[in-house]
Amino acid sequence: MTSGKALFAVMLTALTAGQALAQATQMDVKKTNGCGCCLAWMERMQENGFAPQGDDMFAGLLVRYKLDNGVPPKMVSCHTAMVEGYVIEGHVPAADIRRLLDERPDAVGLAVPGMPLGSPGMDFGDARKAFDVFLIGPDGTTEIYSSYPGN
Ligand code: CU
Ligand code: CU
Repeated sequence: MTSGKALFAVMLTALTAGQALAQATQMDVKKTNGCGCCLAWMERMQENGFAPQGDDMFAGLLVRYKLDNGVPPKMVSCHTAMVEGYVIEGHVPAADIRRLLDERPDAVGLAVPGMPLGSPGMDFGDARKAFDVFLIGPDGTTEIYSSYPGN
């Protein structure tokens, strides 16, 4: 009796874990070797239901990859992620990526240019600089998608 219940509990746990895994949104991340903030950003994504897969590239090839995939030079940051056909450049918060995947605009994707202090993966302590998330249009024009205040 007791062992039957225990087995049921184990099965239930395994099922729940399997469902969580199945629901995680796949994310391909191009970055340079030894980029700590890229790994920190990937951790934040993992905490928010994404399944980031990291892939190291040489810096020059990574810049080429960004430009080839429609990231305007002024929008460039460290890593470049691909999520369901959208480009995610730099330290973009998970909430903005979720909104993008919900709204599915005709766009290249989102970018947080540079590496603003306090953005996800650049969050060391409580200090935060104000930063904007930009939507990159199909023609390479950009508009503010969301804004985060500093402190
Ligand atoms: Cu970074
Ligand atoms: Cu990075």
